[in-house]
Amino acid sequence: MQLHRMTWPEVEVYLKTKTGLIVPIGSTEQHGPNGPIGTDVICPEHVAIKVGAADQVIVAPTIAFGMAQHHLAFPGTMSLKPATLLLVLKDLIQSLAGHGFDRIYFLNGHGGNIATVTAAFSEIYADMGESAPKLKLHNWFMGPRTRKLCKELYGDAEGSHATPSEVALAWHAWPETEKHMPIEPRIAPRGVIRGAADYRRQFPDGRIGSDPSLATIADGGRILEAAVADVRENFAAFARES
Ligand code: NI
Repeated sequence: MQLHRMTWPEVEVYLKTKTGLIVPIGSTEQHGPNGPIGTDVICPEHVAIKVGAADQVIVAPTIAFGMAQHHLAFPGTMSLKPATLLLVLKDLIQSLAGHGFDRIYFLNGHGGNIATVTAAFSEIYADMGESAPKLKLHNWFMGPRTRKLCKELYGDAEGSHATPSEVALAWHAWPETEKHMPIEPRIAPRGVIRGAADYRRQFPDGRIGSDPSLATIADGGRILEAAVADVRENFAAFARES
């Protein structure tokens, strides 16, 4: 069930029996030499649409822009500053709360969003007090089944940016984006993330600690199944929270 494909009377009917929804949030940023720039948008959306269909939960349009300033030295990256993203999130949460959505579940695809999403939640709770909706952030790649599977598939080559698991899942969603090429060094360097120019100097092809040449569409299908099971469980627990 995707919000942007529904009519307002259908949303009004939904709200008579359910008040939860899923908002995928990602980032439009470089994902190494073989990963699509939309990887962090494609992955949570792919998982959310399956969860929404399985459990009859509305999935909002994906927030395609996140805090990706450290990726701006790579062509194609589009970033919001933390302060901008904070305001976007607050406006969207307030829009949904006004209709009666009181459990808003952000399914996130990008580690760089976590601090700002959490800050937006704090501001909403402070501003709205008792009338605030309940808010939750879940990273699609952090559920127990998903982590276990990615560890089995890739071990230390999973790394932390442009990972084989996210590239595999993105290719599974959009098979025409699959690209195989030699990648050197096999495992990318690791290090501390600072500004954009520093990032490109330290991590010249965009990857951090990963070997995304291991990704396959078949793995992407297995990762999708694990992530959908994790998110269904996690969302159901959220819906029951008092
Ligand atoms: Ni990513």
